[in-house]
Amino acid sequence: MPVQTLTPITAAEQMSIVRCASCHATLDDRTARATCPNCGGLLAVEHTLALPRGDTLRARFDERLGVESYRGSAAERSGVWRFRELVLPGARDEEIVSHPEGNTPLVTREAVAGFAGVRDLWLKHEGHNPSASFKDRGMTAALTQAKRIGAVAVACASTGNTSASLAAYAAQAGIPAFVLVPEGRVSTGKLAQTLAYGAHMIRLLGDFDDCLELAREASERLGVYLVNSLNPFRVEGQKTIVLELLQQLGWEAPDWIALPAGNLGNTAAFGKALREAHGLGMIDRVPRLLAVQAAGAAPFAAGFSDDFATRRRVRAETAATAIRIGDPASWDRAVDAIRFSNGYVAAVSDAEIFAAKRVIDSCGVGCEPASAASVAGVRVLAERGIIGAGERVVAVLTGHLLKDPDAALAARVAGGLGSEESLTRDEALAHLGRVLAGS
Ligand code: F0G
Repeated sequence: MPVQTLTPITAAEQMSIVRCASCHATLDDRTARATCPNCGGLLAVEHTLALPRGDTLRARFDERLGVESYRGSAAERSGVWRFRELVLPGARDEEIVSHPEGNTPLVTREAVAGFAGVRDLWLKHEGHNPSASFKDRGMTAALTQAKRIGAVAVACASTGNTSASLAAYAAQAGIPAFVLVPEGRVSTGKLAQTLAYGAHMIRLLGDFDDCLELAREASERLGVYLVNSLNPFRVEGQKTIVLELLQQLGWEAPDWIALPAGNLGNTAAFGKALREAHGLGMIDRVPRLLAVQAAGAAPFAAGFSDDFATRRRVRAETAATAIRIGDPASWDRAVDAIRFSNGYVAAVSDAEIFAAKRVIDSCGVGCEPASAASVAGVRVLAERGIIGAGERVVAVLTGHLLKDPDAALAARVAGGLGSEESLTRDEALAHLGRVLAGS
């Protein structure tokens, strides 16, 4: 499909460039390419706009939390575009496709801290985004870019959350969306969202890695704009999870930031955010990243154990379907993130993921299975003494409990005081009487 002609932008509006991490070729920031046209390598956005440093920049971002964050345009109310100088400074207001998104809560729960074995544990709940996962932060940037370049259609491969987010933002932008998902491996909530928001969905006989390969090929052949997390603008939006949590902590860096890791787009984004925040003097020390994989889908954790000597891929299997990925696309960028932050990569079993999920769910916070991997990973590292009991840790919960209602029901704490069967009115009263008498 052809890409529409663009109105030229002036030099003053050119505030970012795109550079290939492998062959270092540079592209205009209005490129329609998601990967390098010369060598197929990963692209990264570099902002050339001159910015104030440290205090002044922090004060600018803090000022934007004033009354305009309630009353302004969607972009002014967004927890992504609040940091627009570090996202896509050249985007014009009328090009921004924002719900708005971001502004997600940072919560503490004693039960979760006790379970993880660290006193100062914060949960950054990205399930509070409009389509109920962190993907909305990258998608607002990617669909803004799609609009800037006049894309006639957008596409992605997905384990479910990217497709739901893409469907929502493409609907808002008025651009047709195509998604490829692995047959039988996407949870009900995510399928329902993707279809209801109006995306064209293809259920591929294969796994996520097959879907991504096909999405790359199809976008190359058909000229559809690819918005998987290898798209460099997705990374720019997802950086704001880190910027926002730092802002919520008064710009005091925590000791660790833990996150679930699948295709490694988010790990890459977190590393880039920390590198930039530190480079600009917004934080004076760099938190250590803890990327957590499901043991059945843990090529990156295996790579970490030999200092990433070789790139690994596996046939992935885990009940945490969001991170059931065997050949992560953002491998190189994620290696850089772990090295830069003196980070760690752990693998946790499905049993450990679901144990963490039960605790997170039963204290009224809730999350989808993959998200609980972050807390499960913190527990493992605290047990091994790698994370100190007194260190400050932020664990990112990437998706909402209702993304996967079947998993939530299966994982719930058994033997509660409710009734497992349906009861008549009289039976219900008798049941309540017995429970209260016994309690
Ligand atoms: N947590 C959730 C809830 C996810 O949906 C994903 C990825 C991840 C963590 C891992 O993030 O891939 O950047 O390392 N979901 C993608 C999708 C693959 O298609 O929705 P990652």
